[in-house]
Amino acid sequence: MHKALRFMALAILIAPVSLAAQTSNVTLPQDKGPNKVDVSSYPAEQQKSYKVFTDKCSKCHTIARPINTTMSKEEWERYVKRMMHKPNSGISDSQGKTIFEFLAYDQATRKDKNPSAFFKSLSDAEIEKLKAQQQ
Ligand code: HEC
Repeated sequence: MHKALRFMALAILIAPVSLAAQTSNVTLPQDKGPNKVDVSSYPAEQQKSYKVFTDKCSKCHTIARPINTTMSKEEWERYVKRMMHKPNSGISDSQGKTIFEFLAYDQATRKDKNPSAFFKSLSDAEIEKLKAQQQ
């Protein structure tokens, strides 16, 4: 095959795979929990931030995933950055900050009071294991 044609064929084959890689292709235990937070008693600013959070963090996996995961504030800070830096996350620095502040507030207000009702985040190895089981 002509070199350029071979390159194009390869690009066509690879493109959908690399696009799909951005989306989570595994169901985590957190995904099956509630997909809403009752923010009616939260300060007005956090109620606005909740909308940014549900809009931005539901693109690649269920919004239930972060809603049902419990982490320390430091871990959330790292995790939001990690999610922001995924290809095509569509999350700007300022939106990331807004989302982190919501998650930190929600962690202290709702999750820290009843940690056993939520899931600790899984390690990459644990996620890989679930992926292998679900295929
Ligand atoms: C660009 C796609 C994408 C976006 C946007 C995204 N995530 Fe993720 N998220 C993933 C992938 C991929 C995984 C890991 C599972 C996997 O590899 O399939 C993941 C996993 C998670 C986990 C599970 C942690 C664990 O180890 O149990 C949490 C919590 C999470 N994301 C929170 C968020 C939050 C909060 C946001 C918004 C700031 C967000 N995600 C936005 C792709 C994304």
